[in-house]
Amino acid sequence: MTQPTFNMDHQWLPFTGNRQFRNDPRVVVAAEGLNFTTHDGQKILDGISSLWCVTAGHNRPQINKAIKKQLDTLDYATAFQVSNDKAFEAATMIAELAPGDLNKVLFCSSGSEAADTSLKVALAYHRARGEGHRNIFIGREKGYHGVNFGGMSVGGLPANRKVYGAQLLPRVDHMRFIHDPIDNAYIHNQEPVWKEDPLLELENRILALHDPGNVAAIIVEPVAGSAGWYLPPKGYLKRLRAICDQHGILLIFDEVISGFGRMGTNFGADYYGVVPDMINFAKGVTNGVIPLGGVICRDFLYDGMMNAGAPAHAIEFFHGYTYSGHPVACAAAVATLNLFKEEALFARAAAMGPVLGDALHAACKGLPNVIGIRTLGLAGAVELTPLAGAPGKRAFDIFLDCYHHGLLIRAAGENLVLCPAFTVEKAQIEQMVGILADSIRRHA
Ligand SMILES: Cc1ncc(COP(=O)(O)O)c(C=O)c1O
Repeated sequence: MTQPTFNMDHQWLPFTGNRQFRNDPRVVVAAEGLNFTTHDGQKILDGISSLWCVTAGHNRPQINKAIKKQLDTLDYATAFQVSNDKAFEAATMIAELAPGDLNKVLFCSSGSEAADTSLKVALAYHRARGEGHRNIFIGREKGYHGVNFGGMSVGGLPANRKVYGAQLLPRVDHMRFIHDPIDNAYIHNQEPVWKEDPLLELENRILALHDPGNVAAIIVEPVAGSAGWYLPPKGYLKRLRAICDQHGILLIFDEVISGFGRMGTNFGADYYGVVPDMINFAKGVTNGVIPLGGVICRDFLYDGMMNAGAPAHAIEFFHGYTYSGHPVACAAAVATLNLFKEEALFARAAAMGPVLGDALHAACKGLPNVIGIRTLGLAGAVELTPLAGAPGKRAFDIFLDCYHHGLLIRAAGENLVLCPAFTVEKAQIEQMVGILADSIRRHA
């Protein structure tokens, strides 16, 4: 590794140990397919779709061309009181992919904005129909819904919350984390089956405490991605849907990671056979090339807001971003969604998921310090025992070592996560898993 020749004094890196980075810079300057080139000419395999984004692989000409064409046609127009053709086209394609009557798309530019948008829809909808007292949100321990105050409040990753605790939203509770390290430490390409019902706690404690009639929405990731690919027990999401229905609580699926094919289906909602009231998306919708996020809402939410009795000229929902439905981002989304279809990439994710799962279990089960492996969809996590007194350090050290051996992997707590592009080849999976297994051995 050599130090870059450019000035690194002025970028404050996000979610990164900046001091460590300065001593060991990891700078990519080009990408093609699943390969990065670094500032010092090294080749690195992108084992994580650049954080769950680049699901069709890097540098896809169809997407690049659509972006360039859009730039030369309509670079930008305000989203308030006027709109643009690409935003409608993208919204139509997204609604067509979404299950049930999830038909109305509110655009934003990131998963964090999507989280806050969905929470605000929930509050506004309940108020519009005279139930403004429904203002409690329920998230889940170790959930991740981005870094804005709403998403952080319903999120449940302690490190992301602890500094900001005093200013998090007040009326929020959290369901228990869904992990069973005793009977389901190893999940091999199938949904875990639990002996107990983790949702009894929601029914008997959380809803009983707050009164379900005060709860606006429950928000979960169908699969807990950022925490380290933790999978819900079989039947969990269907039962959560039933509990929400019983009490008039809105159900929000944060599908920033599980949406657009990661589970081999359009959305995680399809994989689990559950129709939520809102789906949050971002990342893969543009193949990560240009920021775009959004919330897909069921018809009744939109209708409820439209029919709340305000005069015809009035704004129904006081919310939106300058870049909501940005034409260049929406052109990227249209091209990406077309590419997914043309290359049947969700089916490819479904086919390659078990290949990744089999490889991870075969190579890593039984290695020193490995205490769990969870694979389902085209993603998998290897969980390690923490180093005494240094939580997360073993996984971080292995992440660094993998990088220096040509693989970008994600360290999440004590987990190492692989989630390659849907275009990944079997040989690339074997290479990734081989680098990871060797590194785990080196860190015994
Ligand atoms: C489920 C989920 N929600 C929200 C976010 C936040 O997205 P962004 O970083 O685009 O704000 C993420 C990011 O990883 C995520 O995984």
